[in-house]
Amino acid sequence: MPATEKNETAAETGAVEVRETRRLTGEIRIQGSKNAVLPVMAASLLHRGTTVIRNVPQIQDVFCMIRILRTLGCGVTFAENTLVIETGTLTSCEIPEKEAEKMRSSIMLCAPLLARLGEAVFGQPGGCSIGRRPIDLHLKVLAETGASVTEAGDRMSAKTCGLHGAAIHLPYPSVGATETALMAAAGAEGITVLTGAAREPEIGILCRFLQGMGVWIEGIGSGTLTVKRSAFLRDSEFTVPGDRIVAGTYLGAVMAAGGEVFLRDAPDSAMGENLRMAESMGTETQVFPEGIRIRQDGRLRTVSLETGPYPGFPTDLQSVMLAAALRAEGISKIREMVFEERFATAKELQKLGAHIIIEGNTAYVEGGRRLSGALVRARDLRGGAALVIAGLMAEGTTLVDGYSCIARGYEDICGDLRSVGAAIRFIADDNYAHDRAGDRW
Ligand code: UD1
Repeated sequence: MPATEKNETAAETGAVEVRETRRLTGEIRIQGSKNAVLPVMAASLLHRGTTVIRNVPQIQDVFCMIRILRTLGCGVTFAENTLVIETGTLTSCEIPEKEAEKMRSSIMLCAPLLARLGEAVFGQPGGCSIGRRPIDLHLKVLAETGASVTEAGDRMSAKTCGLHGAAIHLPYPSVGATETALMAAAGAEGITVLTGAAREPEIGILCRFLQGMGVWIEGIGSGTLTVKRSAFLRDSEFTVPGDRIVAGTYLGAVMAAGGEVFLRDAPDSAMGENLRMAESMGTETQVFPEGIRIRQDGRLRTVSLETGPYPGFPTDLQSVMLAAALRAEGISKIREMVFEERFATAKELQKLGAHIIIEGNTAYVEGGRRLSGALVRARDLRGGAALVIAGLMAEGTTLVDGYSCIARGYEDICGDLRSVGAAIRFIADDNYAHDRAGDRW
């Protein structure tokens, strides 16, 4: 069975078993970006026709979005990392609750559904448990572009007689709300000027996709975006760039284990602060047109960093840095400024013997101590990857339970790390239950 079909149907539950690994060497090809492809898939609904998207990662969030698009009436095929979405058959405006609960990005479908069908029915979107994730800014954007939102129990309904251009200001540069605003503007009559917009690379990627469909956009890369819809949107083809968070994860793995790895297709221009922090800790990074070479020899220095909206340090790599800092002798300070509950991973790292003290939104990490393998649980996507990285440094064997969290965003974290020498494997649920019964932990 082709990998795409296998992944699409597999439940992806299980655990990752990882053993201490001293050095990683070789090359990893970085998959297409999750946070870029999901809004692009949603935006394909804006027009009636065919969208072809290449370099799409085979991850659970993509499969979830495919199921939602099919439920809405679209035709979707996915093979060899290429997605073909046919939106001429879009008939339903109800985002299915069961799928939306799993993935926050489902909220992004509202604006395109309003533009195409005049209505969107949705619930509170789900996603990682990393803190309060309100949708007030999305609702503000929808209201200001001409939709009225009513609540019925835990479902919401947005309706419009036609979206219109508006002057919208976001009081916080929310990535998702900026994407909602771009899609609403692309489907609205007139011109929209969005100020306070997020500047994450994924916003630029969505803008370029919309431009390919025929939407006029000015100000890409800045906090002010001006958008004008085209009378006729056209079929388009788009290639998703490499995932900067996956690249940053494997960079973290090399920092933790040491070694030399080439990250093919890593998007260096989107990784500025990440690369700067790694270098400040003593990791060598060398940028080539085809990717980034990472080299870590000798000791790692401590770090003091704070997450923030782009171009700040990405919150999605905060737990990865928490894990990497365990290698640096001395005390590192990591401050979370975006999602308040993103330190849940610290508690799991403590089970491996990590010395981490949390005070408010700051983690103090005392690195350089021996870690020892234990049973830990992935509670969110990036936190799960951070536990895998910590497992590379821990004596003995670490079992990271909750693989379904990790599979939301990594195509094959075990295969990727094994290809550069890590002692790591995926254990399906049954074997794992057997191991547990044997009191291995
Ligand atoms: C996106 C990314 C996620 C990343 C985050 C910040 C996707 C699929 N996910 O999430 O990986 O961690 O950007 O870089 O692209 N907020 C509100 N009201 C809203 C919306 C957001 O108060 O209506 C707050 C959130 O609670 C959070 C902050 O704004 O504290 C940032 O959230 P936002 O930028 O919207 O993140 P997401 O788009 O959900």
